[in-house]
Formats: sequence, structure tokens, C-alpha cells
Amino acid sequence: MKYRILGKDLKVSAVSLGCMGMTHAFGAPSDTKEMTRLIHEAVELGYTMFDTAECYTGVFPNGSTAYNEELMGAALKPYRDKIVIATKFGVHHAPDGLITDSSPETIRKSVEGSLKRLGTDYIDLYYQHRIDPDVAPETVAQTMSQLIKEGKIRYWGISEANEEYLRRANEVCPVTAIQNRYSMMARRYEDLFPVLEELHIGYVAFSPLANGLLSAKYDKDQKFGSDDYRSRMPQFTAEGIDKNRELLDFLYETAERKNSTPAQISLAWMMCRHKNLVPIPGTRKSERLRENAGAADIELSPEEIARIDCALNHMEMSEVFGGAKILR
Ligand SMILES: NC(=O)c1ccc[n+]([C@@H]2O[C@H](COP(=O)([O-])OP(=O)(O)OC[C@H]3O[C@@H](n4cnc5c(N)ncnc54)[C@H](OP(=O)(O)O)[C@@H]3O)[C@@H](O)[C@H]2O)c1
Repeated sequence: MKYRILGKDLKVSAVSLGCMGMTHAFGAPSDTKEMTRLIHEAVELGYTMFDTAECYTGVFPNGSTAYNEELMGAALKPYRDKIVIATKFGVHHAPDGLITDSSPETIRKSVEGSLKRLGTDYIDLYYQHRIDPDVAPETVAQTMSQLIKEGKIRYWGISEANEEYLRRANEVCPVTAIQNRYSMMARRYEDLFPVLEELHIGYVAFSPLANGLLSAKYDKDQKFGSDDYRSRMPQFTAEGIDKNRELLDFLYETAERKNSTPAQISLAWMMCRHKNLVPIPGTRKSERLRENAGAADIELSPEEIARIDCALNHMEMSEVFGGAKILR
């Protein structure tokens, strides 16, 4: 595994682990013992940053709630001082979208809840999950500054940040990382690269495989249950797969040239495009955990990157899932 720096000095594995799907969004929560083994395997492979959120909950078949933070906190306890726990506040799920709340009082409640579920007395990287239109960035940053002083969090970040919000927040309390969507199918935040460089802020890329599509292991026959978000994602519909055929073929062909896999090429491409970018692919499977970690060792030359960029700029692609609707 290779390592990268987020912000001024937060060292994390170049490929880190998104843990959301273990309890949330991709069907029923996975077996806790199995996921605990997987998280331990990730630590052995050199993954050091583990991504969760207070809202990544699910419901076990017996009706009890699966808290992602509890799973992670318990699994990572033996390694606590060697790893980075990243969690998020400020979003609650409603049946048809997300409700944001980043008021200082709510953040205070959230941080205490997360610390309890994680079974730790500090959070390494604490993200605002979505911008709250009712709360100024300066107010959120001020709260983060206080939490850092109190030792409850070490660093903070913003998810789905835009330039103006980021600059204003960073003036009050330096931001270590943004966590925004980024993949070969979702490139709208590339405009932020120079801003991040100027402000010394890292980019943690979520949904880096376009929710798995860019592994090129899913086809039209793939069926997802109704409790799996992918059943409603445009890139996985039969029409979407047809539209993405050229992209998937291109990934296969590029992977073959580099003796690698489509998922590895997707992840290596983004790591080569920005030196402080860290993808956090999510998986519940050991062989994929290993495959994704292997992306950190793939070097793509500037010519190879240019060839990929040129192809991406010119090929047809389906729409890609852009996140749940923000209700308020
Ligand atoms: N900040 C935010 O608002 C936000 C939003 C979404 C996600 N996230 C974070 O980002 C992480 C990753 O995002 P994501 O889960 O949405 O998308 P992703 O990482 O692009 O895709 C994950 C999906 O791809 C499959 N997969 C992973 N590696 C694979 C491989 N090598 N071959 C084939 N399939 C593979 C996984 O299935 P299996 O589990 O079956 O392997 C999983 O269903 C999440 O865990 C979460 O921590 C943050």
C-alpha cells in the first residue's frame, strides 16, 4: 500500500475503505462477524482510513438497527492508534431524500452520539455530510474549531463542498479534506483541483467506481433487490449498460494493457490525476478489497492519462447516480 497526505499532515492509505455498504444502501446489512473480519483484513493490507457516517444505518432481518459506526468502532478497537476513523454529521434520511441540519446544537449532539457508537474518545476526521443552506459556513467552521480544541475531533472536512463555501469555512478553521463524488462518470468537481492545491486541502473521492459499474463486472442480467439503491441508479439499467458499453470495453482494453483490472484502472486514473486524492471504494468482499488496494501500485504515465481523458471526453455514457435529493 502507498500513502498520501490530506491537508497539511494527515497521512492515510492511498486507497482507503468506504464502509457504508456494510450496513446501508446496498441491501440488508451484512453479517457483523464477516464484516469485522473484512475490516481486519483491510488493516493487514495497509488500509488506514475507514469511512462511515452517523446516518449509515440499516435494519437487520430480525428488525434491529445496524449502526455502521458501531460495527467500525468495535472492529477497529485493537488498531485505534494506527488508523484514521472518518465519520460525518449533518444529514438525516427521510423516505424521499435527505434533511440537512448543521446547527451547532445538532452538531454537538451528533459528535457525542458518534463517539459513543464508535467507542472512542476522538474522531480523526469529521465531515459535514452536506451543506446546510440555513447555516453559514463560518458557523460550522467555528463549531469545528471548538471541537478540535476540546480534543473531540482532530481534523475536519466537508462533503459535496463547493468553492465559495470551502473558502469561507477554511478562513475560520482550516479544512483538511473535501469528500466529493468523483469517478470517470462524474467529473464535475475537477474544477476544484487548483483550489484544493492552493489551500492545501485533500480530495477524498466517494463512489469512485460509480457504485461498482466501473469494475465492469455488472451486466444487464444483474438484478438488485428493491432495498438496494442500485436498483434505481441510471447507470445500472439495461439502457444505461448499453450506453456505457464503449466505456466498459475501453476499461477492459486499458486494463489488459496494464495487466490489471477495470476497477484498478478507474482508481489508478484518479490517483494519477491529483496527488492529494484518495478514493474510498466500498466493498463487502475480500477479493475486491485486495483488488482495489492493488490500484495504488499502478502507475499511469502522463500520456496514458491523456489518452484516457481524451477517450472519456468523447464517448457516450449514461447518466450516473448523483445522490439523494436534499429536501431542506
Ligand atoms: N459523502 C457522501 O455523501 C458519500 C456518498 C456515498 C458514499 N460515500 C462513501 O464512499 C464509499 C464508496 O462509495 P459507494 O459505495 O457509493 O460506491 P463505490 O465505491 O463506487 O462502489 C461500491 C460498490 O461497488 C462494488 N465494488 C467495489 N469494488 C469492486 C470491485 N473491485 N469489483 C466489483 N465490484 C466492486 C461493491 O460491491 P460489493 O460490496 O458487493 O463488493 C459496492 O456495491 C462509501 O462506502 C461511503 O463510505 C460517501
